[in-house]
Amino acid sequence: MARILVCTAWPYSNSPIHLGHVAGSLLPGDIFAKYHRLKGNEVLMVSGSDQHGTPVTVKAEKEGVSPEEIAERYHQINSEAIRGMLITFDLFTKTHTENHFAVVHDVFLRLLEKGHLYKKETLQYYCEKCGRFLPDRYVEGRCRNCGYERARGDQCDKCGTTFLPGELDDAICTICSSPPVLKETEHYFFRLSAFNESLLNYVSSKTHWKPNVQTFTKNWLEAGLNDRPITRDMTWGVSVPLPGWENKVIYVWFEAVIGYLSASIEWSKGTRNPEKWKDFWMDPDARHYYFLGKDNIPFHTIIWPAILMGYGGLNLPYDVPANEYLTFRGEKFSKSRGVSIDIPTMLSRFDPDIIRYYLAANMPENRDSEFDWDDFQAKTNNELVATLGNYYHRVLSFTYRHFGSIPPCHGVDEDWRKVTNAISVAVNEVDQYLSTCQFKKALKAVMDLAQFGNRFFDSVAPWALLKQDRDRCGSVLNLNIEIVKTLAVLSYPFLPRSASDLWRLLGYEESLLSKGWGWISIPVVPGQKLREPRPLFSKIEIEEDMAMFKEFEKLNLKIGQIISVADHPNADKLYVLEVDIGKRIRLVAGLKGHYDKDKLVGKKIVVVTNLQPAKLRGVESQGMLLAAEHSNKVILLTPAEDVPAGTPVNSGMNPSDQVLLFSDFQKLKLVVGQVIDARTIDVGKSMKIEMRNGAIKKGSKIAVFLPSPDASIALPLLTNNGIVITVDGDIENGALIR
Ligand code: MF3
Ligand code: ZN
Repeated sequence: MARILVCTAWPYSNSPIHLGHVAGSLLPGDIFAKYHRLKGNEVLMVSGSDQHGTPVTVKAEKEGVSPEEIAERYHQINSEAIRGMLITFDLFTKTHTENHFAVVHDVFLRLLEKGHLYKKETLQYYCEKCGRFLPDRYVEGRCRNCGYERARGDQCDKCGTTFLPGELDDAICTICSSPPVLKETEHYFFRLSAFNESLLNYVSSKTHWKPNVQTFTKNWLEAGLNDRPITRDMTWGVSVPLPGWENKVIYVWFEAVIGYLSASIEWSKGTRNPEKWKDFWMDPDARHYYFLGKDNIPFHTIIWPAILMGYGGLNLPYDVPANEYLTFRGEKFSKSRGVSIDIPTMLSRFDPDIIRYYLAANMPENRDSEFDWDDFQAKTNNELVATLGNYYHRVLSFTYRHFGSIPPCHGVDEDWRKVTNAISVAVNEVDQYLSTCQFKKALKAVMDLAQFGNRFFDSVAPWALLKQDRDRCGSVLNLNIEIVKTLAVLSYPFLPRSASDLWRLLGYEESLLSKGWGWISIPVVPGQKLREPRPLFSKIEIEEDMAMFKEFEKLNLKIGQIISVADHPNADKLYVLEVDIGKRIRLVAGLKGHYDKDKLVGKKIVVVTNLQPAKLRGVESQGMLLAAEHSNKVILLTPAEDVPAGTPVNSGMNPSDQVLLFSDFQKLKLVVGQVIDARTIDVGKSMKIEMRNGAIKKGSKIAVFLPSPDASIALPLLTNNGIVITVDGDIENGALIR
């Protein structure tokens, strides 16, 4: 029996987890853990919410709530989403716990005592306007490696390069947009440079690593490691366990990786043996696997091993089978960059096995892979439903109807040999591929067996045998049930819901996990009563669901800035405005009597840019600004935060460039809603919100798109960088926008 520690990267608790988290780390980790549990190995699978650092405080500041509130809210949402996906951690905890603080303090003090930490005056970004230091995500700028414009202070989200203060080009403070200065401050540094050699030896010995993980890590090490500051000037996080350091905390990345250890300890405390974690961390034969996306590689193959080496006596990662990215419309899933489909939304629409199937079949194992709605529907319907589900149902319903229980198999013949062989090929392949973290190939081997089953069922035609030779009919059904049972076991790591349901239909009293992999070699028992079968999967129809917001794409909205305002020569209610939407255009708008001219100049507004130009009392308007109207009130829409003129307001969709007729525009329904909580909005009645990205403040009034009159979900208007569109004053909930 082997001991396996399965670790998956800790999602930040600043937003709901999305498909990228599941495909990149949670699902592969879960498949791997389930496989080893089936094999009877001793598995400990841990992770939790990464609750500290600037990802959480930035979000909290945006919403005007405390970091605790954000950290706790998304910990709850994500724990539930993980359960909903049938991902079974032994412990999914969080970093804001006493236990984690204690373990991090122990590690910090031990490293300090052993001379691996030292303090030093260093330069850090500082915003003179805001009067504060700007750790990590409080700075953005251009990445020197890939040119990405919105790289963060500590890491480029696009290419994964990590930075020290000063290494970003054209940095700005993300609070006030002014350029920061570098200012002296004292921090603890981790003497990473001292581990360079040992890490190189360690990595070189890991010949079983994926080539990209090994090469990436070696390149870093060969370039030479620099010592890194591991404290920050902020107060939300794990405290520095030393007097005089009350205004600083430990860097989120330094403490979060320690979570793997602290979570193992926390888990032990909850078992009968509080020292149990040592079996996993101190037995040199225990193997540690870390599942994560490629941007997390250096933290798990360099920083974490170095911390462990410095601490001493604990196991290092055995394998780090990092995945590439799942993309959506060609971009990496990223909540903060507005590319996201979150798990709570997916689970409200689809069976977890269906989501798991598609993400496993399409896993970004060796290259990026694209999440595509049409492909999702096609793979679900043509593979999962038509091949696997259909095979189960054909075999079970035919046998149940005509025999009621599992018929005996009379003798060994050609069919028996064929089936036995197909089963053993599949079992060996799945075993080999899963033990080496090749999930797509393993799933393919499962599906090949289902396909074999379908063909076999056709070739033996039990419906024809039923009258002619009932014994032989029973025999071939027995063989089919043997295949179905094997599929239940082999598919369990991928599709736990249907595998468990199938197990019940097969009439087993003992659970699938009780004997696990062992069931494969225990023949099905003639006479075992089947339960009344029902289809285990049903086809999905994405069109209605996802096309719901399609209409919104007819609108091409941009942020505009009003440059000048003049009276319309021939109308008393109209102004003629010059507006910058990335280029200058002229708009005619009925704002007179509602806004004074000087109040308008400089204002950021929302403009429909693809409307057919129209003459209004003799002056051509080259677009239309959006305002909410209710009982003689007119209130402009405006972004909740300052964003540049020309910024698209696309709510994560793909707006069209086609000209929009005014009559078609009138069919689209935009209204004002008041935010009740992160998922609900009051638009005169209460509705769900489809929140793809961005932060919304409770109580604020925002602009939403309603897909149809009887819709139950509203789409908030958001800029492409996730800034919500609000109304510039008070107006009734449900007020029409036009
Ligand atoms: N929260 C990080 C991310 O989402 C991952 C942290 S993994 C940990 O990129 F091990 F450090 F916790
Ligand atoms: Zn970059």
